[in-house]
Amino acid sequence: MPDENTISRRGLLMKLGVFFNGLVAIGLAVPIVRYLFSAVTRGRANSYLSWVPIGPISEFPEGETRLATFRNPFVMPADGQTVNTACWVRRISAQQFQVFAVNCAHLGCPVRWFPQSGLFLCPCHGGAYYRDGSRASGPPERGLFEYPYKVENGLITILAGELPTPGDPIASLGEERPPCA
Ligand code: FES
Repeated sequence: MPDENTISRRGLLMKLGVFFNGLVAIGLAVPIVRYLFSAVTRGRANSYLSWVPIGPISEFPEGETRLATFRNPFVMPADGQTVNTACWVRRISAQQFQVFAVNCAHLGCPVRWFPQSGLFLCPCHGGAYYRDGSRASGPPERGLFEYPYKVENGLITILAGELPTPGDPIASLGEERPPCA
């Protein structure tokens, strides 16, 4: 007759099964719960934004548009060279700039500036943008994305950390938007 204090083999296996199923369920639930609450915790996503320098303003002559690179402020060891991100800097006047994301607003191909025609052209599907970044023709439905920028001590810095979008990251940070052209 079995002792009532001993666990049968079946009971033990049942308990182990419940335990390991519980572990798997928790493992699956964590990313789902994080996803569901991501809208609530979105404010913390702003911690991915950071002001990074792209160079002294003397490197950007007035009336010209030049390519610049900056180091993405949030890198992982496997990122390699991809942490170096390009952007187009247009200097309108002494203190007035526009800093464009290099990615086309259609599907993200890198656009190139052609000073001869005064256009940014996308090699992928023929998207074109005027010098102020506004859409000229082709599939993009809007102009180039712009980085918020500020000039301090002769150095131009941009708010980087995520690709610019139609949203206003500065507004969500509660800061005052620096003057853009
Ligand atoms: S990605 Fe630039 S036009 Fe399509």
